[in-house]
Amino acid sequence: MEARSEEHSLSDKQFKKLCDLVYDSTGIVLAEGKRQMVYRRLMRRIRELKLKTFPEYYALLENNDDTEWPNFLNAITTNFTSFFRENHHFEYLKSEFLPRHCREFGRDRLRVWSTASSTGEEPYSLAITLRDFYGHGVADTDCRILATDLDTNVLETARAGIYDADRIEGLPEAVKRKNFKQRVVDGRALVKVDQELQQLLAFKQLNLMHDWPMRGPFDVIMCRNVMIYFDKPTQAKLLNKFMRLLRPNGVLMLGHSESIAKDFSQLKSDGKTTYIKVA
Ligand SMILES: C[S@@+](CC[C@H](N)C(=O)[O-])C[C@H]1O[C@@H](n2cnc3c(N)ncnc32)[C@H](O)[C@@H]1O
Repeated sequence: MEARSEEHSLSDKQFKKLCDLVYDSTGIVLAEGKRQMVYRRLMRRIRELKLKTFPEYYALLENNDDTEWPNFLNAITTNFTSFFRENHHFEYLKSEFLPRHCREFGRDRLRVWSTASSTGEEPYSLAITLRDFYGHGVADTDCRILATDLDTNVLETARAGIYDADRIEGLPEAVKRKNFKQRVVDGRALVKVDQELQQLLAFKQLNLMHDWPMRGPFDVIMCRNVMIYFDKPTQAKLLNKFMRLLRPNGVLMLGHSESIAKDFSQLKSDGKTTYIKVA
């Protein structure tokens, strides 16, 4: 199938080239079903750059144009997320993992990594969970959450911690009151994440396919709803890299449609898409 517009088109050959470029730079396998979406997003870039054709756009990327690469990566990522998405993980942390962690290591040091944090709803849900457990003053302890993503646009939103009010509509009133401040800006109802929660977080751009600067160890690694975009060999490589940074008895959490191969002996299941690193 050919994706076409009046003046531009994406031939099968060009789509294949695009898939290779995306795979090599991000690990993402672009399915045929994503062709139209990617086409539309890149067309926007091509128009903004006042280019004429896809080959001209590739040439720009192949010449390592530093300004366009982030735009290209931002255009191909899928960033759907929400506060307390797959809430069982946050419940597990509060009622099982954190009490166990405190018994073993005391109340102080805790390192959590949200590896594909998108617009920030996941790491802020983690921060809310930590504060619920440790209480106010949690930012004065040695609990920290690292939130990373490939996409620089979503990181900007995440850092600001400001969302349309309807993003928190489904949360209990008490959770909203405690963790968000209401604002109206230009007639738009917004919420801002409480400052103490922001102090727990550091947002950094990181491509999971590259070398990572962190040394760890992490107590909890969340890698949810991103592995699905990678093929099996990439997933296996990533998993081994996580194992180097996760402490023994630390926890890895995956998204609802992601799982670990049964013969992967370094992890044992501890509930729905939740895995403990074997000590
Ligand atoms: C669907 S969102 C998942 C967000 C959140 N983890 C959740 O479950 O709600 C997937 C995120 O993975 C990020 N991503 C995709 N490929 C990546 C890569 N190679 N390195 C880092 N992040 C990546 C995207 O930018 C996107 O924000």
